Amino acid sequence: MILVTGGAGFIGANFVLDWLAGSDEPVINLDKLTYAGNLDTLKSLDGDGRHLFVRGDIGDRELLGRLLTEHAPRAVINFAAESHVDRSIHGPGDFIHTNVVGTFNLLESVRAYWNDLAADEKEAFRFLHVSTDEVYGTLEASDPPFAETNRYEPNSPYSASKAASDHLVRAWHHTYGLPVLTTNCSNNYGPYHFPEKLIPLVILNALAGKSLPIYGDGQQIRDWLYVKDHCAAIRRVLEAGRLGETYNVGGWNEKANVDVVNTICSLLDELRPRVDGKGYAEQITYVTDRPGHDRRYAIDATKLSQELGWKPAETFESGIRKTVGWYLANQDWIQNVTSGAYREWVSTQYGV
Ligand code: NAD
Ligand code: DAU
Repeated sequence: MILVTGGAGFIGANFVLDWLAGSDEPVINLDKLTYAGNLDTLKSLDGDGRHLFVRGDIGDRELLGRLLTEHAPRAVINFAAESHVDRSIHGPGDFIHTNVVGTFNLLESVRAYWNDLAADEKEAFRFLHVSTDEVYGTLEASDPPFAETNRYEPNSPYSASKAASDHLVRAWHHTYGLPVLTTNCSNNYGPYHFPEKLIPLVILNALAGKSLPIYGDGQQIRDWLYVKDHCAAIRRVLEAGRLGETYNVGGWNEKANVDVVNTICSLLDELRPRVDGKGYAEQITYVTDRPGHDRRYAIDATKLSQELGWKPAETFESGIRKTVGWYLANQDWIQNVTSGAYREWVSTQYGV
């Protein structure tokens, strides 16, 4: 079996669902269920003996030690993190606690377990750390996309904490021989995305008749990847990645934020037109920029595609259409995540 951390969050849950759709290898899913963790996403696995959910913290070494010894996973995949840049600006403490100290404790628990494995199991074991392109900092318009050889230049408390975790993972390989793999992925979107992030926020606000907040001039560029393509990349790296290596994951889909928002508005105009006949783009509002806002991210995923044969199945156009359709069809999931704690965040961040 495999142990997944953070498997009740956006990408982790998509990964667990996809894993069990394609394999009978069981999953232990360790998640603290912070505001971002949501068991509703995993509802289809209720009663499925292949999925064992455990509520807990990656920093809890006693719990980790017990889970690892009892279930003897052949791999640990670490999704657990605080993941929202704006929250890291309001309160960086949780990001240091989970992303840095939590990863350290997780690595130590896994190292102790791995050290005691029989030689063949030790060799087959993998620790895969899921990270972000934000560790590389920001690009000018004319810069080539981020390669694995780019310097780490994180600019936000979030990206700095992820960079720190990547360094720990690297060091645990070089110093202790722990068989690690790291993936650095660009912006994901798709089903079960928590609506604090741009794409689901815009879909939900549009439907609720609220303003669509674009930070600054809206010309910041992100490289969007459909979440299921990210999950496929992680499975491929787990299967065949070279130990100690990092793999950039991206969809070759660079888009300015304002274009992303306009695309969503056009899709909604087509699929769920406003009753007054006006376009959703009328709801766009330019708001104060994010402090330290990175201008452009772009990923060069050549290493992953050439070495491991991965390529994304979705274009941005096909993925965003599926995503908008998913949000229109899954109002129950939305009602649940947009309850009390969510409303508090919206009022802190947007003052409404
Ligand atoms: P998310 O915020 O949706 O989910 C994070 C999950 O981790 C939640 O279920 C939460 O309850 C859990 N968690 C938080 N702290 C924990 C702790 N101390 N112990 C155990 N569980 C804990 O995040 P996401 O968007 O799914 O991102 C998953 C991973 O992928 C993160 O490591 C993130 O840095 C990375 N990543 C995200 C993106 C993206 O676009 N969302 C892109 C590249 C990389
Ligand atoms: O690049 C990978 C990263 O992508 C991940 O590591 C992070 O976990 C993930 O949250 C995401 O970070 P971003 O900051 O790029 O994502 P977010 O959806 O918050 O914002 C996308 C862009 O949209 C960014 O330039 C900020 C802008 N934005 C965001 C929000 C929430 C707005 O203009 N308005 C908004 O209200």
